[in-house]
Amino acid sequence: MIVQVAHAVAVRQARRAAGLCLIGGVLLFLGHGLAARQDQAAKPAEEAKPAAPAALTTVGSETCQTCHEDIFKALAKNPHYVVEKLPARGWQGKACESCHGPGSKHAESVSADDIRNPAKLSAAEADRTCLKCHLNHPSQINRTRSSHAKGGDVSCVSCHTMHKHGPGGSEPGFAPRKAEAINKQCASCHTPVWAEFQRPHRHKLPENAMSCVDCHNPHGSLLPRMVRTSSANEAGCLKCHGDKRGPFVFEHAPVRLEGCQTCHEPHGSANPRMLTRHEVRFQCLECHANVGATASVQSGTIGGIPPAIHDLRSPRFRNCTICHMKVHGSQVNRALLR
Ligand code: HEC
Ligand code: HEC
Ligand code: HEC
Ligand code: HEC
Ligand code: HEC
Ligand code: HEC
Ligand code: HEC
Ligand code: HEC
Ligand code: HEC
Ligand code: HEC
Repeated sequence: MIVQVAHAVAVRQARRAAGLCLIGGVLLFLGHGLAARQDQAAKPAEEAKPAAPAALTTVGSETCQTCHEDIFKALAKNPHYVVEKLPARGWQGKACESCHGPGSKHAESVSADDIRNPAKLSAAEADRTCLKCHLNHPSQINRTRSSHAKGGDVSCVSCHTMHKHGPGGSEPGFAPRKAEAINKQCASCHTPVWAEFQRPHRHKLPENAMSCVDCHNPHGSLLPRMVRTSSANEAGCLKCHGDKRGPFVFEHAPVRLEGCQTCHEPHGSANPRMLTRHEVRFQCLECHANVGATASVQSGTIGGIPPAIHDLRSPRFRNCTICHMKVHGSQVNRALLR
């Protein structure tokens, strides 16, 4: 704590001193090894700019306001207003420069070359601008291993348009909250996935009753494919389908061990119940295939000859879940009959 306060003071002093010291101060302020390494990696690029870094100082948001009145006003409706207002954040009266860097040179030259615009940085650099404050945000913990950061080059500013729209609109603006805005945003890049949601059996995303982030964390997750976890590393499906959670006395092995997507297509399917097979029995026989045209010697259960009780030639046995109703697990019956 004391260390942090000391750093905050150091940062304020450093801002008046040489630009390089400023970078050092911010680094200390961060106190985070990874971010520090990344910031150092970014340094050469910043130094290479024509602007002499040593001359850069902060001028305060009110100076920016003189030329960027609308953006200054918009900031008051943005959650980052707390950065402008609260001394504890270390940027009181200087929020603009918390993201754009010290603006003394630009305020005089009014040249775009003299100010940092995160939208024009590489994805990794843009992320760093934001992560210097958001690194320890709980939803960001898996950010660096997310597909968006790793392979995608999809940065914070691809999805959070800082000075457009307030939160809560139906357009993907600064912080999309409504399902409609989120779906629009995700669908704009993931058109094949959106197409899957046009199939007959699917969750109600096209109606915007649900959104992609009900199942995915766009910032990354512990599970593959950035699939959101509910509690522990449980798949997010159980947040809504709690009756499938168990624990069951008689589990159906694949439900827990392989996950819901073994049998269901999470983005929608041509098959009822979003199954991966067009008839339930084919779903089951994919694993319980010891059928045989004659008696199944392996199980003695499925086949045409007694004591086998599953004669698949008889239509009666084709709809497996008529009898095996508790296909996700049962509290009372080993054969998942009830
Ligand atoms: C004296 C007027 C003036 C002041 C003061 C001023 N700006 Fe600007 N700013 C401009 C103008 C003009 C442009 C457009 C430059 C261009 O497009 O070439 C601009 C552009 C920008 C851009 C976009 C750069 C880009 O790459 O497109 C950012 C970001 C910006 N200003 C931030 C700030 C911040 C932060 C401050 C306060 C520290 C500030 N400005 C103060 C006049 C000003
Ligand atoms: C939390 C970070 C953050 C803060 C605070 C912030 N900006 Fe920005 N600003 C951005 C980002 C990111 C962009 C790039 C546009 C986008 O979001 O895609 C941007 C873009 C701009 C632009 C370019 C024009 C545009 O709309 O794209 C100007 C000018 C600008 N900011 C000025 C300001 C001023 C003035 C302030 C203070 C009143 C300010 N910014 C505060 C992050 C910030
Ligand atoms: C100087 C520190 C700082 C920087 C830099 C910063 N943020 Fe923030 N951000 C905050 C604070 C503080 C809040 C409000 C805190 C809260 O509500 O938990 C916030 C809030 C947000 C929120 C909204 C949270 C909500 O619940 O609605 C989003 C989204 C966000 N920031 C994205 C960004 C992006 C994108 C960038 C980079 C362009 C960025 N931030 C840069 C400090 C910062
Ligand atoms: C692929 C799009 C996407 C990217 C990339 C992205 N975000 Fe978000 N972010 C969202 C969406 C959508 C929400 C709203 C999530 C919700 O409501 O659950 C959100 C919410 C947030 C919030 C509010 C708190 C929360 O988790 O609900 C913060 C803070 C935030 N993002 C910061 C960031 C930062 C910082 C980065 C870059 C490191 C980033 N985001 C990258 C889409 C994105
Ligand atoms: C700017 C374009 C863009 C936006 C917007 C976007 N994505 Fe992505 N997404 C990508 C790219 C690029 C990848 C990486 C693809 C790859 O690695 O094959 C990706 C990867 C993913 C993956 C993981 C795929 C895998 O195989 O690991 C998921 C899940 C995902 N995005 C969900 C979302 C969600 C949810 C949203 C909306 C909040 C969203 N995306 C918004 C471009 C985007
Ligand atoms: C009902 C939950 C659910 C919803 C809603 C959902 N997803 Fe997924 N998504 C998943 C699961 C589960 C996987 C992993 C499938 C696997 O591992 O085989 C996945 C995989 C993905 C993948 C990687 C594999 C692929 O199919 O390309 C992407 C990209 C993706 N989702 C994007 C999205 C987008 C964009 C949306 C919103 C339009 C969305 N998802 C909505 C559950 C969901
Ligand atoms: C945000 C809540 C929510 C999440 C998360 C969720 N679902 Fe659903 N699911 C629903 C609702 C609500 C319905 C039924 C209403 C409807 O028709 O959309 C449903 C219906 C279903 C159905 C039945 C469809 C039919 O045709 O009868 C299946 C199967 C299903 N979900 C599987 C999944 C799987 C697998 C996941 C995780 C990958 C998942 N759900 C995640 C809310 C959710
Ligand atoms: C072994 C294959 C299998 C697995 C794994 C599986 N399901 Fe199912 N699920 C089915 C079958 C088959 C049906 C259709 C039952 C019927 O015919 O009525 C179904 C139906 C459903 C339904 C709609 C009817 C109902 O019972 O509410 C939901 C919702 C559902 N599953 C959710 C899930 C979730 C969530 C998971 C993961 C925890 C999951 N399923 C895992 C095979 C499976
Ligand atoms: C992904 C593979 C898979 C699918 C698909 C599948 N099962 Fe299973 N099932 C298993 C496994 C593995 C076991 C556990 C076998 C064991 O413990 O010996 C099992 C066990 C069972 C049992 C209990 C057997 C016992 O007495 O222990 C029944 C009944 C059953 N499954 C019915 C079905 C039905 C009905 C379907 C179709 C809705 C289905 N299964 C789909 C893999 C699958
Ligand atoms: C008419 C009702 C009925 C139908 C339909 C039905 N079963 Fe069964 N199934 C049973 C009964 C009864 C048992 C035996 C329970 C016992 O041994 O106590 C059983 C047992 C099983 C077992 C456990 C066998 C073992 O070796 O322990 C599996 C696996 C199984 N069925 C799969 C299926 C599949 C796959 C289908 C669809 C192709 C299906 N069942 C259709 C009634 C049915």
